[in-house]
Amino acid sequence: MNVTHLECGLCGLRHEARRLHNLCTSCAKPLLPRYDLARAAQTLTKESLRNRQSDLWRYREVLPVENDENIVSLGEGWTPLFHAQRLGEQIGLSELYIKDESQNPTQSFKARGMAAAVSMAKELGAQKLAVPSAGNAAGALAAYAAKAGLEAFIFMPKDTPRANVVECEQTGAHVTLMDGLITDCGAEIGRRKEAEGWFDVSTLKEPYRVEGKKTLGYELAEQLNWELPDVIVYPTGGGTGLIGMWKAFDEMEQMGWIGSKRPRMVTVQAAGCAPIVKAFEDGKRFADEFPNAATEASGLRVPKAVGDFLILDAIRASGGTAVSVTDAELIAATREIGASEGIFCAPEGAACLPALKQLLKAGLVRSDERVVLFNTGSGVKYLECFSH
Ligand SMILES: Cc1ncc(COP(=O)(O)O)c(C=O)c1O
Ligand SMILES: [Zn+2]
Repeated sequence: MNVTHLECGLCGLRHEARRLHNLCTSCAKPLLPRYDLARAAQTLTKESLRNRQSDLWRYREVLPVENDENIVSLGEGWTPLFHAQRLGEQIGLSELYIKDESQNPTQSFKARGMAAAVSMAKELGAQKLAVPSAGNAAGALAAYAAKAGLEAFIFMPKDTPRANVVECEQTGAHVTLMDGLITDCGAEIGRRKEAEGWFDVSTLKEPYRVEGKKTLGYELAEQLNWELPDVIVYPTGGGTGLIGMWKAFDEMEQMGWIGSKRPRMVTVQAAGCAPIVKAFEDGKRFADEFPNAATEASGLRVPKAVGDFLILDAIRASGGTAVSVTDAELIAATREIGASEGIFCAPEGAACLPALKQLLKAGLVRSDERVVLFNTGSGVKYLECFSH
């Protein structure tokens, strides 16, 4: 067990690791697990990975669970990284890759975060887990809670794609559909959790979903033979995957696996809900709540993210940028990626393509650069979006 403590991402305050925490007790910002990486690196070596299991637990030494018996797994992680040759040719890139997260349990990258969070909740004794969700996090929590024998309480906007609602019901969760947005769902949990005895597993409001998601960064490095790409294009709601990858790169550098070069991190949001893009353009470190948030890419309908400054810090430190695309563009891109690469993307993942086209046109990405798009989920969950 290599976790030494939890550290506030903003004020740096140390918190004890072996108990349930939500936000920093001083400034109410996200807590990030810190590890004894020298110790981790004694057994977690590039060579050792050759013989390890094909899921995210291959990076066991840099994951937070103490006792193996508490690991709740449905086979998450170690998803394929495809060379998107045909699509790359169409847009003028020879080194275009797609990390296909639709191949996770519950068909999205949310499985990574929930595998880690539910394992830790089990280890630290939580019984009832509550989450506000745009859809995919809900499906993932419901599945992992079921596997762990814990109760899941799920709050989603009532216009969440139907597949997400049905899968939560069929995996035994308590589902509440609300008028409003994911932020309203989160506020409802905040109001009721104490009386109900719920542990809040909202993204970045507990310390471990980001740990599951950081394995995206480890996998990417390993799959590219320890050479990070030039550009990562990532559809951003709460930003946990981007923050997690950025953390993974630092950990890998400290373990001596990679150098100091980083990919340029590109946040993609929907034009109807683009708080991070707005803050990036305005030169701000914290994002204002985006008014009247609306997009069919439900995972991107996050008007206010508690980890906003962590996203913005990473984008800026990497020399990256933040761009928005319209719903018409991202829906059309689903078909373009599907027809050229055979991957039926979630609209959030598809949004990466029009964003990349913008960057190519603006000269911010060159045709000889290696670019990775993140398809974060499956289009199968969003049939409503494609029927009109
Ligand atoms: C398919 C999909 N992509 C992207 C996101 C945004 O993820 P993150 O919170 O890591 O920014 C979500 C969140 O719900 C999602 O479901
Ligand atoms: Zn703090």
